[in-house]
Amino acid sequence: MHQNIAVLLSGNGSNLKAIIDKGIKVSFVVSNNSKALGLKIAKNANIPSYTWDNVSELEKEVLKLINEYNVKLLVLAGFMKLLSRNFVTTLPSKFIVNIHPSLLPKYKGMNAIKQALEDCAEYTGVTIHYVDEGIDSGSIIKQYTIKINKNDNLELLKERLQLIEHRFYPDTINSILSMK
Ligand code: GRF
Repeated sequence: MHQNIAVLLSGNGSNLKAIIDKGIKVSFVVSNNSKALGLKIAKNANIPSYTWDNVSELEKEVLKLINEYNVKLLVLAGFMKLLSRNFVTTLPSKFIVNIHPSLLPKYKGMNAIKQALEDCAEYTGVTIHYVDEGIDSGSIIKQYTIKINKNDNLELLKERLQLIEHRFYPDTINSILSMK
């Protein structure tokens, strides 16, 4: 079961690392940010990477690459730009997945962890969902809940949530691929 995925990212790439470490075959990595640390992770793993800072250009090129590499699933891992309706609807439904650090539909968009803390939420978590043309609005695949501790701050909570992401995102990707 070695189906190809592609990863879109803008930042650190810790989820990319977890995906690679799990043995999932990543055909290529694309970023809108040439300084993204995730590009170094791709390079170290000998995965081709590409950067376009203009999102409509990026989308056009990613569509070509998806065909070229015969990609089965497009994985967003900290990709901070909104994909256009045209891009999302050009691809088959359930072709793009994302991971978000909240229990969607709560705390959509940027600063989801901060929003949960400021809201004094008792629980938060991680959501893995399919991507549609809205912001964090696609259908939910899996959610993992954790309790927010009294001593949690932004850093601590982010760290706890990322541990969950690294554990469950690769597993979920593998199970989606196994159904394709
Ligand atoms: C993750 O926390 C994810 O939930 C959010 O962006 C972050 C990316 O982290 N969508 P990394 O770049 O994988 O370290």
